[in-house]
Amino acid sequence: MDSGRQILVCQYTNCLANGSAAVLSTFQSAAVPGVMVIGCGCQGQCNLGPTVRVLPDDTWYCRVKPEDVRTIVDQHLKQAKPVTALLHPRFHPQY
Ligand code: FES
Repeated sequence: MDSGRQILVCQYTNCLANGSAAVLSTFQSAAVPGVMVIGCGCQGQCNLGPTVRVLPDDTWYCRVKPEDVRTIVDQHLKQAKPVTALLHPRFHPQY
């Protein structure tokens, strides 16, 4: 498992209006060892929120729902395979 990762979950207005508080709490509940979950300010992608970034690999996810968190945890954080269906098209246009 990778260590030293951070999950940034936007907690600013537009993302909050689309349910990002529940996304944050679901990541916190997952409690993946070595992964720090952080509620952050606007990431500038408000129209495709809730916005979630994974650092240090700088993977961007968009329109994340609480039910997507388990998939991101299992595939990305535990198996190092980004969840292509949720990747933000601006940052990951190849998908
Ligand atoms: S409000 Fe979340 S990216 Fe701007």
